[in-house]
Amino acid sequence: MIEEKREGCERMNNVSIEELAGRVKEGNVVIFTGAGMSTESGLPDFRSNGGLWDGRDPMEIASANSLYQNFDEFTSFYRYRIEEKNKYAPHEGHRILAEWEKKGLVDAVITQNVDGYHRQAGSETVYELHGSLTDIYCETCGRTYTEEHYLQKSNCQCNGKLRPGIVLFGEALPVEAFEKSAEAARNCKTMLVIGTSLQVSPANMLPSETRSGGGNVILINREPVELFYLVDGWIEGSARDVLKACHEQLGL
Ligand code: APR
Repeated sequence: MIEEKREGCERMNNVSIEELAGRVKEGNVVIFTGAGMSTESGLPDFRSNGGLWDGRDPMEIASANSLYQNFDEFTSFYRYRIEEKNKYAPHEGHRILAEWEKKGLVDAVITQNVDGYHRQAGSETVYELHGSLTDIYCETCGRTYTEEHYLQKSNCQCNGKLRPGIVLFGEALPVEAFEKSAEAARNCKTMLVIGTSLQVSPANMLPSETRSGGGNVILINREPVELFYLVDGWIEGSARDVLKACHEQLGL
C-alpha cells in the first residue's frame, strides 16, 4: 500500500527547499497542519505505527456516541491527551510559522490539531477546525471548566458529563472556523499542507479550495499520502527539519 502511495506521490514533482522558499517569499501563504506537525514536540499522531489509533477504535473512544456508551474510557483518553500536551511544547517549526506570519508571509494557520501549539508558539490567525482540548464544558448545561478541574472531576455541578471542546467523530465542525478556513484556502497563492494524512473530511477538502482559487498546494510530510492527487507537489521530510531548512534558505 505504502508503495502505491509512494509511486503516486513520486509522480508529483518533488519540490526543492529552494522552490519552497521562493513560494514562501512571495507571501499570501496559508498553512494547513495535522498531527504530524506536533510529533517532533513529543505528541503521537493518529495513523502512524504507535499513533493514537494504533490498537484503539476511534469510534469507541472519540465519537459522539462514546461520550454516552463509553464515558469512563472516553474521559481517561482525553485526560491523557490533556496531560500529554501539557507535558510537551511547540517546537521550532511552530515558532517559524509564527515568525512568517509576523513578517507578512503567512496569512493564516488552519489546523486539525487540538493541542493549541500554534497559538502557544505565537501564531495569531489560527483556525482550529477540530476545536481545542483546553475548552472544557458540560454536555448538558454548557457550563465551562478548567483543564485542572476536568483532570479531577468528570461531572458537572448539574451532574451532566464534562468533555473537551473538540470535534468528535459524528459531530459538525465549528461553522465559523470552517468558513474562514475555506475562505483563506480559496484566497491564498500557496497552501503548505504539513503533517497530515488528508484522510478526514471535510478538512481534507481545503487543498481543493486553494486549487480552485488558482493557488498551489505543497505537501510537507514524512511519508506519501493516499490522496496524493489533492496536492501539486511533495517534500518528503519532517515538519521541523523542512521548515528550518526553508527558514535558513530565506535568510530569516
Ligand atoms: N513530519 C512530517 N510528517 C509527519 C511527522 C513529522 N514529524 N510525523 C508524522 N507525520 C505524518 C504521518 O506520516 C502521517 O502521514 O503526518 C501524518 C499524520 O496523519 P494522521 O495521523 O492521520 O493525523 P491527521 O492527518 O492530523 O488526522 C486528521 O483525524 O482522527 C482524526 O481528529 C483527528 O485531527 C485528526 C484527523
